[in-house]
Amino acid sequence: MDIEREYKRSLERILTGLDLSGMSKREQAVFIDRLNEQFPRLFALLVEIYGQRYDFFYYLQQLVQTLANGFAKRSNVLKQKDNARLAAPHWYQGENMLGMACYVDLFAGDLKGLQQRIPYLVETGITYLHLMPLYDSPKGDSDGGYAVSDYRKVNDTLGSNKDLEELSKALAEAGISLVLDFVFNHTSDEHPWALAAKAGDQKYQEFYYMFDDKHVPDEYEKHLREIFPQVRRGNFSWDSDSNKWVWTTFNNFQWDLNYTNPAVFNAITDEMLYLANLGCEALRLDALAFIWKEMGTNCENQAKAHSLIQAFNSCLQIAAPAVVFKSEAIVHPDEVLKYIDKQECQLSYNPLLMALIWNTLATRDTHLLTESMQKSFEISPDCAWVNYVRCHDDIGWTFDDAVAGQQGVNGYDHRRFLNQFYTGRFEGSFATGVAFGENPSNGDCRVCGSLASLAGLEQGIEQNNATLIEHAVARNLMVHSIILSIGGIPLIYSGDELALLNDYSYEQDDSKKHDERWVQRIPVTDADIQASKKKDTPQNRVATGLKTLIGLRKQYSVFGQASTRIITPHQNAVFAYQRTAKDGTSLLAICNFSEHKQRVSSITLGLGNGDVWQDLLSSVRVSPAPQELELAPYQVMWLLNSQPV
Ligand code: GLC
Ligand code: GLC
Repeated sequence: MDIEREYKRSLERILTGLDLSGMSKREQAVFIDRLNEQFPRLFALLVEIYGQRYDFFYYLQQLVQTLANGFAKRSNVLKQKDNARLAAPHWYQGENMLGMACYVDLFAGDLKGLQQRIPYLVETGITYLHLMPLYDSPKGDSDGGYAVSDYRKVNDTLGSNKDLEELSKALAEAGISLVLDFVFNHTSDEHPWALAAKAGDQKYQEFYYMFDDKHVPDEYEKHLREIFPQVRRGNFSWDSDSNKWVWTTFNNFQWDLNYTNPAVFNAITDEMLYLANLGCEALRLDALAFIWKEMGTNCENQAKAHSLIQAFNSCLQIAAPAVVFKSEAIVHPDEVLKYIDKQECQLSYNPLLMALIWNTLATRDTHLLTESMQKSFEISPDCAWVNYVRCHDDIGWTFDDAVAGQQGVNGYDHRRFLNQFYTGRFEGSFATGVAFGENPSNGDCRVCGSLASLAGLEQGIEQNNATLIEHAVARNLMVHSIILSIGGIPLIYSGDELALLNDYSYEQDDSKKHDERWVQRIPVTDADIQASKKKDTPQNRVATGLKTLIGLRKQYSVFGQASTRIITPHQNAVFAYQRTAKDGTSLLAICNFSEHKQRVSSITLGLGNGDVWQDLLSSVRVSPAPQELELAPYQVMWLLNSQPV
């Protein structure tokens, strides 16, 4: 096929039938411009995915009309935002950026309550707020909202659509970018599409993967992982309404969408534009690794998953270009990188850094962290990591076994050790955590717990042991210092800024007790915020220490657009990296991952060049460079290079 001739011909045909009546002449021109620019790419992607279908052109035409309708409904304010973002696309790389992720109900009761908490967010320095899924979802267990029954309706326990609209505006006024979930791998089994499928409507049965018997599912199953083996074995669930097996990667009530069907792509694009038009500036692509299934593979990270995401991205570039994608690929580090591209996901969680921060706290040995970051930290200068230490999910040990192997570390054994270390089964561990998703067949599991509890504060307080508490506070600040300075958007998990401990109340709740991730989904009350202001408590030391780090981050451009070089420090417990901004300013960050003093050679760190380095976190000045720097237990230095004396 001559793709160039074909896209031109298709575009011409589409334009003749396109209804642009909802737009002014000027808006029409903008839309057509963007369409012209994106169409060659979008067309090529869709041909790759759906080109074999006899009805390809029908769906293509329908899609472009969907984009036009979405653009027509976009408010003027958001259209202005589109222009502003197109003019300054790297807004997410600034040193002012600071993210927080929270559940609306746990953080503030409901959407109205959240609006009242905006001053707290502003005071904390937050500029990016990820609200966990707030859409209509099944009562009882809804996987924390990740089973969506209606993308266009706010869950009534959280408020109304109008409340969300108002909140979105109020956040924008406060300079906070709203981030919403795009849960597009699956819907709940109560979504109207699923209900129609259950009732036997073939059109909607084709929205999902439904099978009359277990034959085909069993063939797929041979290569699939199990994500929640504690609730159900395998990846398929029996639906007694339709008498069919349904593909359910996660819980039984989360039905995987069938993207081999272009009707699904179009329908989900329509939902995506609805979310974009609420005013969010980033969409978190939930479970994106799973969206394309290919018989004989593990059905994760398939080539066509990438094509689909790029096609969605291209649709946004046409109808709502202010919105960027954030990848939630919690998979092998090499696969994580493949989602990161200006034309795919501009942002990505950094699960490797997250997991290795916890690994290194346990081992006090930075080799795996250093080498893994040297291999995998660098991404396109158009994109940004979203660096985090904890989130609402479990910790999976997603490091590269090959990198570990080079250091004589056996991946399988080491993961067992880490699981034991963080779930209280390893003598001498400081952590208080809970095992999650234990697989009865292979003993595999993941780890849950709040940052403070995993870092030792729960144990320290229980034992009333000042040293343990001091170490836990220092660990908390050190790990936050890394996400604040290594490059990318730091994402604080709500409650961690106040060092909140594990909440075991989920054990008493029938809709939650089978899902240990609730242990770290903790209400943040006014009392917690007040308590953190009480001088010299561990919570206060974490909260104020974090404030200092955040304040410094926002003050120096070297924390924003700058390159990162991971240094080999030749000292087991020391992790170090250098950030260099375009104007030549440099920051050297050094962390001591152990409860013992460390000495590290200034030459190895690159300090021996006669420049003056000032630690932003203490009064230390390195000038001229001494032979060695000494770091106290868990100490962090942020050495800023100023002009030579
Ligand atoms: C993502 C979410 C997780 C959810 C899953 C299924 O991994 O972060 O909480 O269970 O997707 O939607
Ligand atoms: C995700 C991941 C898995 C994670 C889970 C949520 O999509 O692939 O590792 O733990 O869903 O628990």
